[in-house]
Amino acid sequence: MKLVTTPIEIQAYAHDYRAKGATIGLVPTMGWFHEGHLSLMRKAGTMTDKLIVSLFVNPMQFGPSEDLDKYPYDLDRDCRLAEEVGVDLLYAAEKAVMYPEEFATTVHVKGLTSGLCGGSRPGHFDGVTTVVAKLFNQTLPHIAVFGEKDFQQLAVIRKMVTDLDFPVEIIAHPIVREESGLAMSSRNTYLQDDEMAAALSLSKGIALAKDLVKSDRNVTVKLVIDGVSRNILSHRECEIDYVEIVDKTTLRPCTQITTASVLVLAVKINKRIRLIDNSLMIEG
Ligand code: PAJ
Repeated sequence: MKLVTTPIEIQAYAHDYRAKGATIGLVPTMGWFHEGHLSLMRKAGTMTDKLIVSLFVNPMQFGPSEDLDKYPYDLDRDCRLAEEVGVDLLYAAEKAVMYPEEFATTVHVKGLTSGLCGGSRPGHFDGVTTVVAKLFNQTLPHIAVFGEKDFQQLAVIRKMVTDLDFPVEIIAHPIVREESGLAMSSRNTYLQDDEMAAALSLSKGIALAKDLVKSDRNVTVKLVIDGVSRNILSHRECEIDYVEIVDKTTLRPCTQITTASVLVLAVKINKRIRLIDNSLMIEG
């Protein structure tokens, strides 16, 4: 596996791969790999000839009071894990080459970014779309794989790709969970043992919501949201950022539950750890 650290170098590799007729798959990440990241890599690897993984803790998508400084980082560990799953090229750029001092451009997707995580993390998605646009131009992928764990991010990136005519196919990968049901996340590493029950209230909330819908297909959106919220708030460590049922494409609130309805949750544990999760209300 090659380790590359500058846009010029990675672009040269990407041009070379393409000149030789190889297809390129990209998995953009912020590192501290877990099984969620690794399964995205495996998927991209089976679909393409050359697998590029980017690792960049993107300062532009963190708010001033967020966890940028604490975000877990260990390049040696991640190199080892990436190599094990067959990554060809790990692209770990420094902040100074990604955003030189004179950097002045922002990619902004309107509408889809205004609610949910976009509402509570102003500017977050501008940071995501700007860096992903840069990564696409640097790595020239045929496909890029993103996790459904970040449901809004996936919708926003699809919109950017359509609107800006990026010649990249976006592939979605289902949420990978711990046996307990907890959605895997680099931020889970912040959780202490006595915060686990609170953290599990998100996946348990999803299970409860699905049960409610299964037992009554005409159950109201309000009843489901109230039930899930009550459950989450029964843990004193939890503070709800949002609990909503939205349309999977428009991300607008649903008035009734259909096969397009997704329950989306964001919960802060002890004011330190912000966890998100989501699920279709009716699977299959
Ligand atoms: P990061 O949080 O590192 O996630 C990288 C990719 O892994 C994203 O597509 C995310 O949805 C996916 N992922 C994370 N946890 C997952 C899980 N449990 N199951 C399935 N997929 C999972 O998302 C980002 O980084 C950044 O915003 C990025 C797109 C790299 C831009 O900076």
